[in-house]
Amino acid sequence: MDSTGVRNSFKKHFAAEGDLYFSPGRINLIGEHTDYNGGFVLPGAIDKGILAEIKTNGQNKIRAYSVDYDEYSEFGLNEENKPSQSWACYLFGVAREIIKRGHKIGGFDTVFAGDVPLGAGLSSSAALESTFAFAINDIFGLGIDKFELAKIGQATEHNYCGVKCGIMDQFASLFGKEGHLIRLDCRSLEYEYVPFQPKGYKMVLIDSVVKHELASSAYNRRRESCEAVVAAIQKRHPNVSLLRDADLKMLDEVKTEISAEDYMRAEYVIEEIQRLLDACEALKKGDYKTVGEKMYGTHHGMSKLYEVSCEELDYLNDVAAACGVIGSRVMGGGFGGCTINLVPEEKYDTFIETAVKGFASKFGKEPKVYPVAISNGTRKL
Ligand code: GLA
Repeated sequence: MDSTGVRNSFKKHFAAEGDLYFSPGRINLIGEHTDYNGGFVLPGAIDKGILAEIKTNGQNKIRAYSVDYDEYSEFGLNEENKPSQSWACYLFGVAREIIKRGHKIGGFDTVFAGDVPLGAGLSSSAALESTFAFAINDIFGLGIDKFELAKIGQATEHNYCGVKCGIMDQFASLFGKEGHLIRLDCRSLEYEYVPFQPKGYKMVLIDSVVKHELASSAYNRRRESCEAVVAAIQKRHPNVSLLRDADLKMLDEVKTEISAEDYMRAEYVIEEIQRLLDACEALKKGDYKTVGEKMYGTHHGMSKLYEVSCEELDYLNDVAAACGVIGSRVMGGGFGGCTINLVPEEKYDTFIETAVKGFASKFGKEPKVYPVAISNGTRKL
């Protein structure tokens, strides 16, 4: 991402020059809504994200300017009340979470901008949190490790932004590696870099440009369903502390004790954890056909059981199947955002054309197309 805009704006606002930090958004090949259930995910960082210039100011406050919103925010390090702008809450939360952990930080000035599309399910908010957690750690020499930085971002979502998210987005942003996906066990936090350069295929995101207003409450309700099912299973199987530990047989045992909706949610998660493991096995063998089948399986589960898809995303998924795309599914939390598509090179142009045209005539708006380049994680530039 070009730094000129951020550099100029920083000079204009603070008449100084600071250090530059970049943190990317993410994709996830498969393994959705599995992170907060202790399962696995398979994300990678992308080449789009958040860029921030930052410099200590010797005062006890943070002064921040968002280029994209053209807004300024200022708050004290000891202030308890959140700032009014939602973008500033992320900075506020990250700073508070770092202080909460017993670290001493000083005030700083910052200007930031992003080229990761907002609300497209590419985790622009995790990129923002990771940028500032990483930069604050670096400029004040706090020595916090990258996992803790990811947890600081996650805690910011929980405590200041109202989303009870898992660890995937912040982890992927901080740990990303060019040309690799990362298979993360969200319970043990063990991870493995998986080379991902599928010969003969292109990976592309199609953005439905649907933004769900109540996405965070719907997301939190999904999580509550999972917890309710665990509580029911636990009565018979005390060792089950997350859906990761459960299987479909255990789920059936409690069928009459839980709601039909909670049953469907848990069924999806249990199946999705297995789908990811199967997809990883297939990836090792270069068997993209199976990987793709699993992706379609995920879409079906997210649409019919977890109910986080929508008409536009289901349409894009159908078009993908009709155009011979080998794997396609809604990506991220859902309720709008993008589908991720693994497309045989020779079918790419026809697919994009058909999807864009068909979508525009059906829904009266153009979807956006983002080719994916899997890139490195958070860094100082
Ligand atoms: C959002 C959350 C993640 C994860 C995904 C769904 O992106 O932030 O923690 O739960 O949804 O896989």
